[in-house]
Amino acid sequence: MESYKFQLVAIVSLVLLLPNTEGWGKDGHAIICKIAQSRLSNNAADAVKQLLPDYAENDLSAVCSWADSVRFYLHWSGPLHFADSPDNLCNYDFDRDCKDQSGVKGRCVVGAISNYTDQLLTYNSKSKAKGEYNLTQSLLFLSHFMGDVHQPLHVGFTSDKGGNTIDVHWFRRKENLHHVWDVNIIETAEERYYNSNIDDFTAAIEKNITKGWADDVKGWETCDDNQTACPNVYATEGIKAACDSSYKGVTEDETLGDDYFESRLPLVQLRLAQGGVRLAATLNRIFG
Ligand SMILES: *[C@@H]1O[C@H](CO)[C@@H](O)[C@H](O)[C@H]1NC(C)=O
Ligand SMILES: *[C@@H]1O[C@H](CO)[C@@H](O)[C@H](O)[C@H]1NC(C)=O
Ligand SMILES: *[C@@H]1O[C@H](CO)[C@@H](O)[C@H](O)[C@H]1NC(C)=O
Ligand SMILES: *[C@@H]1O[C@H](CO)[C@@H](O)[C@H](O)[C@H]1NC(C)=O
Ligand SMILES: [Zn+2]
Repeated sequence: MESYKFQLVAIVSLVLLLPNTEGWGKDGHAIICKIAQSRLSNNAADAVKQLLPDYAENDLSAVCSWADSVRFYLHWSGPLHFADSPDNLCNYDFDRDCKDQSGVKGRCVVGAISNYTDQLLTYNSKSKAKGEYNLTQSLLFLSHFMGDVHQPLHVGFTSDKGGNTIDVHWFRRKENLHHVWDVNIIETAEERYYNSNIDDFTAAIEKNITKGWADDVKGWETCDDNQTACPNVYATEGIKAACDSSYKGVTEDETLGDDYFESRLPLVQLRLAQGGVRLAATLNRIFG
């Protein structure tokens, strides 16, 4: 009886603790924001400090999942976390793909990144536009969506909702493919290699940014044509990565284990690194 009660409590707590399935999980977003904040120019660091809510104590990573926590009552923000593209085409087109379920154009993660970039550009202006927006929210949305656009299955196929309807097992646990990419690969990496310490995982990624990836970083940071943000590029990379890696060889009800984990972790690490580097580069361009 006691053990039954204990099991029940355990199950109920587990259900309550289950991370939601939209966007990298808390850790993925926190890692991206941590990497980004350490790369800010003085002006951008000052602006971020001014805009962050007091309870964040000048730690952007503490509020990097704010956008997930409000989507349940700010219903209009739901479609801004992803973009879906036609099944199996493996490319992304803003005009075709960036819309919500009722077809309103620009309402996807790419349009949202442009939207919140434009709002933050009013921070230093004395124009009337400045008072129109809550720039704290603009910063929290931008920081979160820059992470989402780097999760390959956030620019996935339409009919499986970016892998949400593909049931798989992650080792012995029932999951869906989207959740594997939001949470499980990152969690398993932290457990196996970093003693479940997110700061150690972040530090290892940062080390690679300055060593192994050093030659690529300039290219990640740059946008063509002097644009302040260039999310279309990231979405195009995302659907390619989804096809070449996330979806590749995965069938319904399959068990994904060591082979999948070890072969996909490098891409997850790369996308977390790019997300952090590009969030910083974008904030640096915005705040000058
Ligand atoms: C742009 O931001 C405003 C303010 O948060 C929001 O109402 C609007 O839905 C956003 N649109 C997009 C495409 O992000
Ligand atoms: C701006 O948004 C933040 C986060 O939701 C909120 O705490 C703050 O009160 C808002 N500021 C104004 C002036 O409405
Ligand atoms: C860092 O780079 C090495 C060499 O490519 C790789 O084996 C390792 O997984 C990378 N670690 C992270 C956290 O990116
Ligand atoms: C980008 O900005 C620089 C400096 O303002 C300018 O010289 C250059 O022509 C611009 N390039 C494009 C493609 O707009
Ligand atoms: Zn999200």
